[in-house]
Amino acid sequence: MSKTGLQYILLEKVEQALQQMELPDSPISLYEPYKYAMAVGGKRIRPLLTLIACGLCEGEIDDALPAALAVEVLHNFTLVHDDIMDSADTRRGEQSVYKKWNENTAILTGDVMFADAYKHLHYYGESDKFSKQEFAAMHHIFSRSIITVCEGQALDMEFVDRIDVSNKEYLQMIGGKTAALLSGSLEMGAVAAHATHHKRAELAELGYEMGVAFQIQDDLLDAIADPEKFGKRPGGDIYEGKKTYLTILALERADDVEQKIISNTLEQDEPTEEAVEQVLEIMGDLGVLKDVDNETDEHYQKAFDLLSKFENSEYKIELEKLLNFLRKRDH
Ligand code: IPE
Ligand code: IPE
Ligand code: MG
Ligand code: MG
Ligand code: MG
Repeated sequence: MSKTGLQYILLEKVEQALQQMELPDSPISLYEPYKYAMAVGGKRIRPLLTLIACGLCEGEIDDALPAALAVEVLHNFTLVHDDIMDSADTRRGEQSVYKKWNENTAILTGDVMFADAYKHLHYYGESDKFSKQEFAAMHHIFSRSIITVCEGQALDMEFVDRIDVSNKEYLQMIGGKTAALLSGSLEMGAVAAHATHHKRAELAELGYEMGVAFQIQDDLLDAIADPEKFGKRPGGDIYEGKKTYLTILALERADDVEQKIISNTLEQDEPTEEAVEQVLEIMGDLGVLKDVDNETDEHYQKAFDLLSKFENSEYKIELEKLLNFLRKRDH
């Protein structure tokens, strides 16, 4: 992300606030992995969205900071547990928490992060700038987002044991595991700005489209990105038998022989590197990679269209820039 202007200022605010969280040192087996999970990189997209949404609704940015922290801590909690669920040894180019420590440590670290994320919402109950309804709205959006993320994660895992996942089911799954939190991040920023229900709903929808685009793109990057930049194991989803837009399109287009190769590889507990590469090659030959990229574009375009309804402001420009940055991202 370029270090200029408003985006830089907003990201600095987020980093400073994260550093001021003052996590205890002990028990060391709880707080060391917590600090590690928060420290190693991360694009900080969700807190940035919260602050931008607040600005877009003409609120005071600092009022959105506690909500921004809540969503970023929560996001990092989901990653700590997600890496256990996906047997993913690498996260942001470093060892994942469960790999560096162990599963039990990662479970408990995730638990404390989950609870800690909520602590940041106290601000909206304690500050007299916010009504009871607004405090409740913050909680409501946050809880609903988390529940939807868990539902999406559950579907993601259920689909590993199925080969016949439809595009509609896939969309429901990613709408949960990824889009719900991006949507919630924007909506909470709007609440921090005392925005109307109408504006809140518009931003929530924008976040949903952005989140769907973001996850389809994550699935594509999982297959084709430079692992140095992406920071995750190349082809990780195929190794884990995940059903992504790539596998769904590939299975739709494949002939009998290709279908067998794809489904055998996805069903195996530990497919060979050669088998995974062969699946990727088939995907390329069938034009899947190109079409997945186009599908990503369509959802980003919907997000742009929703944004165009907002009045011009420096925050609108910032959100456009962020959407463009994400569209072109390679990590
Ligand atoms: C990773 O999210 C999890 C997905 C929803 C694909 P990000 O790509 O936003 O993760 P970081 O925080 O930047 O590492
Ligand atoms: C991310 O899905 C969803 C959540 C973390 C809730 P993935 O499993 O695709 O995310 P990465 O690829 O591990 O970041
Ligand atoms: Mg996962
Ligand atoms: Mg994962
Ligand atoms: Mg992924």
